Amino acid sequence: MSAVGVVAAAGSGSRLGADRPKALVPLAGRPLVAWSVLTLLDGGVDEVVVTVPAGERDAFAAVLPAGVRLVDGGTTRTASVRAGLAAAGDGADAVLVHDAARPLTPPAVVTRVLAALAAGARAVVPVLPVVDTTVVVDADGVVTDAVPRAPLRRVQTPQGFDRATLVAAYAALADGVELTDDAAVVRAAGVPVTTVAGDERAAKVTVPHDLHLAELQVPGLQAAR
Ligand code: CTP
Ligand code: MG
Repeated sequence: MSAVGVVAAAGSGSRLGADRPKALVPLAGRPLVAWSVLTLLDGGVDEVVVTVPAGERDAFAAVLPAGVRLVDGGTTRTASVRAGLAAAGDGADAVLVHDAARPLTPPAVVTRVLAALAAGARAVVPVLPVVDTTVVVDADGVVTDAVPRAPLRRVQTPQGFDRATLVAAYAALADGVELTDDAAVVRAAGVPVTTVAGDERAAKVTVPHDLHLAELQVPGLQAAR
């Protein structure tokens, strides 16, 4: 089975508030997007396409391995992944869509996703349990209900798909509909989505505190590699 990675890296990172697009922000001296691309390659993906913010191609090319293809993203994540998928072509059996904003995802997560696809899954996402008590509140912030958390999962990336299934699901998604991840796109097309174990280290860098936590994890990770 051959697999292409599509890295969504075209966001601005408004909540992080850095002086450059989030994917180019350094973590232990290496831009987030470079960490994410290397994780996919280390985990067994054959080639990678990165969606970049308009006008940033040269800056991204300078920090990524040769052979990684770059394509302009869109104004939403959904539009960016559409562009990345189109650029990925039809050569691979599988597609793994990954957020540049999850730089410390261990390659073992990639390997688990690939293994599930090789075993016949059409769509697979890495997930973690919800450990906090989870409640519903009303408009005033008053708790109205508690949600049984045993069946709840937090969904991470990379999310893996049979390539033709994901392409067909994006083609069937009406223009202008924005979903927060790719599994939601295939679920909207009626495709079952299976799960594998995610990893806390695959946490998304969203706000400055997340980047600080990621910095603290790097020494241990490098020792483990
Ligand atoms: N993304 C993308 N194209 C967009 C928006 C987001 O490729 N138009 C990517 C981001 O680069 C990121 C991933 O989708 O790797 C997850 O999005 P998020 O964490 O929300 O990143 P940003 O949109 O960049 O951040 P913010 O929402 O704070 O502006
Ligand atoms: Mg965003």
